[in-house]
Amino acid sequence: MDRFRIHGGRPLQGEIAVSGAKNSALPALAACLLTGEPVTLSRIPPVRDIRTMLQLLEHTGARVDVDGQLVTVRAQALDRPEAPYEVVKTMRASSLVLGPLVARTGKARVSMPGGCAIGARPINLHVLALEQLGAEIRQSHGYVEALAPEGLKGGLVQFDRITVTGTEDVLMAAVLARGETVIGNAAREPEVQDLAELLNKMGARIEGAGTSTIRVQGVGELHGAQHTIIADRIEAGTFLIAGAMTRGDLVIADCVPGHLDALAVKLRQAGAEVTEVRGDALGVRASGKLQATDITTEEFPGFATDLQAQYMAMLTLAEGISFVTETIFENRFMHAQELARMGANIRVEGRRAIVAGAGELTGAQVIASDLRASASLVLAGLVARGETVVDRVYHIDRGYERIEEKLARVGARIERES
Ligand code: EPZ
Repeated sequence: MDRFRIHGGRPLQGEIAVSGAKNSALPALAACLLTGEPVTLSRIPPVRDIRTMLQLLEHTGARVDVDGQLVTVRAQALDRPEAPYEVVKTMRASSLVLGPLVARTGKARVSMPGGCAIGARPINLHVLALEQLGAEIRQSHGYVEALAPEGLKGGLVQFDRITVTGTEDVLMAAVLARGETVIGNAAREPEVQDLAELLNKMGARIEGAGTSTIRVQGVGELHGAQHTIIADRIEAGTFLIAGAMTRGDLVIADCVPGHLDALAVKLRQAGAEVTEVRGDALGVRASGKLQATDITTEEFPGFATDLQAQYMAMLTLAEGISFVTETIFENRFMHAQELARMGANIRVEGRRAIVAGAGELTGAQVIASDLRASASLVLAGLVARGETVVDRVYHIDRGYERIEEKLARVGARIERES
């Protein structure tokens, strides 16, 4: 199992480029199942979750051609419209094929994702939404089976709570449903907008993506298309925080500055300078002491839960007491006890953590528990005195493309050990 060995204390300087967004590439790949014609996606990040999704598409019967970050999917015949447990247990986003498969083939069998480190994460809202479109859903033997032999029928889907992949799943089903679908309390994440843009290129008729109400006029069939995936705002945010924590001077290139407004506001409050240096690049600079700031995670455009762990790592250095409130997932503070091993002073009380800035961290051996927690431990290692060893970095490889190489190029002392 790979691990990272990090020597802290170096300010990050220079330019670092972000990859395409994992959380946009995953639904975009699932959307390829909606047509028999070739769909070509570019800027697909070569991370582990993407490889899992490509395997899943091939399992359903689609043909997948990969040329670097360019992926072409031809889903002519889907003779196995299912997502088996073996795949779903490694990546819960596999449930994103449920909507496209039942819409395209009239049936789908998807393993229910078990619990995960950050929360229970059920897919009950996905199921309810597909039932609103007329799918007959049965759950047995750990699988959700969806049937719509006559095809799906448009209708009103009102989510009880905002769900990103739930919105994406029902959006992909609604584009082939007869008549109009209105999705209320929809997720407004940029990844949802990116998916809608791809689907419209494939011949769908979607309006309102990016708002809380999305309208879809169903069409008989979709055609092939070409699309470039948006930049990974979570990777960009991770590097912005790294720049501030290391008191560096960093430019985050190939990103969409507007997708990081909530984070930029908080970094400025903490005393860092965040500027838009180009239309597709943000600069971060910090020299003095960072100040305590309170954050509450929210759905987009609020502060992203996927940046909470990384920001908490920064707050361990800040002057004063910060309150971190996690509203999206019920168990997303696993990184706190590992940061405490590095000298951080954090008290977790349910969905809130109180961080008393210690001013300094010391290197230690720590274990990653999930994707974003592992990123926060890497950031802590970049500033800690002495050596930090981060174990189980397979978590970070799920969503970051060769992060150690990117960080080393801007001055970090970090190595991967296999
Ligand atoms: C997406 O997960 C992202 N994953 C997550 O990123 C991200 O943390 C999350 O959205 C929130 O922004 C992908 O896009 C692949 P949700 P998703 O459905 O869609 C509850 C990362 O680090 N809920 O918006 O699974 C759920 O338990 C990952 O890249 C139900 O109760 O999240 C959670 O508490 C981690 N029933 C809340 O809603 C449902 O059917 C929001 O979850 C669906 C969700």
